[in-house]
Amino acid sequence: MPDTTRMTTNTLEPYWMPFTANRQFKSAPRMMVSAKDMHYTDGDGRRVLDGTAGMWCVNAGHCRQEIVEAVQAQVGRMDYAPAFQWGHPGAFELAAKIAALCPGDIDHVFYSNSGSEAVDTALKIALAYWRAKGQAHRTRFIGRERGYHGVGFGGTAVGGISNNRKQFGNLLAGVDHLPHTLNLKEMAFTRGQPSWGAHLADELERLVALHDPSTIAAVIVEPVQGSTGVIVPPQVYLQKLRQICDKHGILLIFDEVITGFGRLGTPFGAQYFDIVPDMITMAKGLTNATVPMAATAVRKFIYDGMMDGPQHVVELFHGYTYSGHPLACAAGLATLEIYAKEGLFERAKNLAPYWEDALHSLKGVRHVVDIRNLGLMGAVELEPHAGAPGVRTFEAYIKCFEHGLLIRQTGEVLALSPPLIVEKKHIDEIVATIRKVLADLP
Ligand SMILES: Cc1ncc(COP(=O)(O)O)c(C=O)c1O
Repeated sequence: MPDTTRMTTNTLEPYWMPFTANRQFKSAPRMMVSAKDMHYTDGDGRRVLDGTAGMWCVNAGHCRQEIVEAVQAQVGRMDYAPAFQWGHPGAFELAAKIAALCPGDIDHVFYSNSGSEAVDTALKIALAYWRAKGQAHRTRFIGRERGYHGVGFGGTAVGGISNNRKQFGNLLAGVDHLPHTLNLKEMAFTRGQPSWGAHLADELERLVALHDPSTIAAVIVEPVQGSTGVIVPPQVYLQKLRQICDKHGILLIFDEVITGFGRLGTPFGAQYFDIVPDMITMAKGLTNATVPMAATAVRKFIYDGMMDGPQHVVELFHGYTYSGHPLACAAGLATLEIYAKEGLFERAKNLAPYWEDALHSLKGVRHVVDIRNLGLMGAVELEPHAGAPGVRTFEAYIKCFEHGLLIRQTGEVLALSPPLIVEKKHIDEIVATIRKVLADLP
């Protein structure tokens, strides 16, 4: 086995790292070489507390024995089965389990391999559905500023992160965006959902009037915007979006790649907010990130609406070689079993008040201009250095790592989302480390 802990900088060069300052990283690499439960071990043998469940995905903690064994057993039994016109039991079993976790009549599941693919799948299903219903004029999508929906052309277009868009030109045509809902003047240091901002949902009425409802296929939002810094929706904001979509016959897609699988103390954010969207995209926690897998779950009327025409005809010309990969299904089934057996969604719900108190104890600490939380998600927003956006948070991120804590840095925000097995002592450690790092930070 290659000793990955002793690589020289020369050997780092061929890997073009994603969403990474490659040259900076390769000059001072941070290598993780093993992981168990709440901790990584880095190349120097140091334990690093995982304050972010990897990248919002290792919800049951690392290297869970049951998942490891399920994947090992599957790879020895059948490594792969063609995904088109062919099946294997695990894919059907897992789809039924996912559907059972979904709200309302969301009861069909289309597999892909990443959140980005799940989002592009949802957008394509929306277009195909409207064509099947004789409304091919519904082609427009409405996303939201500061939304992150992955890196496919569709997801990038409906996403609202300027840095992710500016290198790629026009992307998908016919997309508009709702305003984001973060307003520090009105809501800084709110615990949970802000009471200000529900009126921002009315912007959807404005966009609908501008474009005409008959041109709009779907609205896509993250229930809580994760990647741009845990932006918690104002009270009743999402309910208003649902009402406006219903009024105009527009599909509502919840991108739950982060909020799915217990992050808010419920299976999906949809249940937390008591809303039934028309589609849910999910990934990450679906397999505890052990094997890449994602899914797009749809309401019954969408699936049924596509099941017209002769029986032998493919109803949806879409899919991936690795849709419902046997290893991913094995990992998914074992993961869902752990969530259920250990009551991890309930655990997240019960820990959320402690998490909230702990995070908000950082109010008043140097540089901190806002703290946001919902479920086991959290954000600490910092005042940036004048004229140098993102630099202070990056410094904080590096310092936290040096102090044995993994957090995420996004813009001016330190984002937090520990595995749902987190214990109070870990929460205390996360907060104490951030407190110390910020106190010493210029
Ligand atoms: C809400 C949301 N959608 C989509 C994605 C893209 O997922 P992936 O990186 O698996 O393509 C992410 C990733 O963080 C996400 O947070």
